[in-house]
This record gives sequence, C-alpha cells and structure tokens, in this order.
Amino acid sequence: MTKNKKIWITGASSGIGKAAAKKFADNGWLVAVSARREKILKEMSLHDNIYSFPLDVTKEEEVKKTFNLIIEKFKDLDLCLFSSGTYDPKLEKGINIQQNKFVMETNYFGVLHCLKAVEKYFKDKKNGHISIVSSIAAYRGLPNSSGYGPSKAALTNLAESLFFDFKKFNVRISLISPGFIKTPLTEKNDFEMPFIKSTEYAAEKIYSSLVKSKSFETHFPIQLTLILKFLRILPYKFYLAMVDKLIKR
Ligand SMILES: NC(=O)c1ccc[n+]([C@@H]2O[C@H](COP(=O)([O-])OP(=O)(O)OC[C@H]3O[C@@H](n4cnc5c(N)ncnc54)[C@H](OP(=O)(O)O)[C@@H]3O)[C@@H](O)[C@H]2O)c1
Repeated sequence: MTKNKKIWITGASSGIGKAAAKKFADNGWLVAVSARREKILKEMSLHDNIYSFPLDVTKEEEVKKTFNLIIEKFKDLDLCLFSSGTYDPKLEKGINIQQNKFVMETNYFGVLHCLKAVEKYFKDKKNGHISIVSSIAAYRGLPNSSGYGPSKAALTNLAESLFFDFKKFNVRISLISPGFIKTPLTEKNDFEMPFIKSTEYAAEKIYSSLVKSKSFETHFPIQLTLILKFLRILPYKFYLAMVDKLIKR
C-alpha cells in the first residue's frame, strides 16, 4: 500500500484554498486545513482525508503552535500551500494607512509567519516543498491598489529570495500567481474581470503543477497572464501610458 502524502493548506475555509484542499484530499493526500473560521473547517473535515487546524496567520505564536499540532498528528509533512489573503478594493481608492497595514499584516506577514514556523522542520529534513499563493497583481503597480498590490509584490519577491536560501537545503519554494478566480475575494470588484475562472479550475491547475511540474511559478489563466507578463517587461514610459489609456476608457 502506498503511503499518503501530507499537505498543510492555509486560507482553506474559502475560495482557492478550499477548492485546493478538496482536490488534494480527493486524490488521497492527507490535508491539514487552516483559517480562522473553525465551523467551516470542521464541516470540511467530514471528508476522511481532511483535518481541521484553525488559526489566525497574523498571530506568530498561534501559527507556530498550530504547525506543531499538525506535525504531532501527521508525523510528517511533504507540502505546504500558503493561500490565506485579504482584499477590499473599496478601501484602497486612496491611501488608507490602517487598511494598508491590515492587508500587509495578513497577506505578507501572515505568510511570513507560516514560512518561519515550517523553516526549521523542512531545512532539518532536507526535503519538501512550500508553495506561496501570490497574484498577478504583484507583477506591476495597478490603479486603486495601494495595499493589495504592494503586499503581493512583496510576497513574490520573498518567494524568489527564499527559493535560493531553501534550495541549499533541498527544499523547494514555488509561487502561484492566479489571475481572476471567482471567490468571495473577487466578488468585491466592481469591474468586469477578464478571463475569470472557477475555483475548481484554479485547484486543478495548482494540483497538477505542484504534483507534476518542477517549475518555480504556476500562473493561470494563460490568456490573461501572458498579457500581464508582456506588460511587465515594457519600459515605464509605455507601461504607464497603456494602463492610463485603458482606465480612461
Ligand atoms: N480570487 C482571485 O482572483 C485571486 C487572484 C490572485 C490571487 N488570489 C489570492 O489567492 C488567495 C486566496 O484568495 P481567494 O480568492 O480564495 O479568497 P477568499 O475566498 O476570500 O479566501 C481567503 C482565505 O484566507 C483566509 N484568511 C484571511 N485572513 C486570515 C487570517 N488572518 N488568518 C487565517 N486565515 C485568513 C480566509 O479564511 P478565514 O476568513 O476563515 O480566516 C479564507 O480561507 C489569496 O492570497 C488571494 O490574494 C486570489
């Protein structure tokens, strides 16, 4: 009999993280699911392969304790998918220090707390894989995104930086850059989102990439991400003029 592989997923009570948890569990992985909403995690753990470990990623000590509980239960861990995040476009139309700090605390420091909690375990084990859910919003500055975009740009930069530091210990760091996915997070957008996809689509892309591919970045849907990757390499003069024109339409 083959041994079940084991994954820890944060941001698992909703959207992309929740769909990914189901996908991994349906494929025989043992899945530790974390988020703040315990009731949802409990319902999810009715699945034979899903185990609930509630936490608030902004609380460093709580994250450490939760990781220890996961290791106590699972004994071993192969993969982490850090997908927790927050976004409220209404609060980012101007500079809103309180909201910008809250977004940074959740999207950047929340993931950093999770990385810190697992660092020693994976480095000692000299094996394993940690994947960070960032966003295509990290590629370049976009309008009305004074908190979310910078938090994701920091996260993508962090993933690149840690890639080198963890590689020395044979631990893989990878990056997920989704385009628009239909979740409670994007429900708040008041514009038409090009090439928007379902959470099942995102989970399928994430699962097949994390299990089968060795690439650093997984980005989807390609129809949108290729355009954004092209915009990313444009000199400022052209990039700023193009986006300015688009938003005036
Ligand atoms: N949807 C998209 O189009 C899209 C595109 C690019 C990137 N992303 C990224 O994908 C990730 C998932 O987003 P989503 O669209 O699936 O959003 P979502 O449905 O709103 O899910 C966000 C998840 O993060 C958890 N979370 C938020 N704050 C937390 C905290 N302090 N502690 C622990 N968990 C916390 C939430 O759980 P609780 O509320 O229960 O804590 C929830 O499970 C985010 O990092 C987001 O930035 C999404």
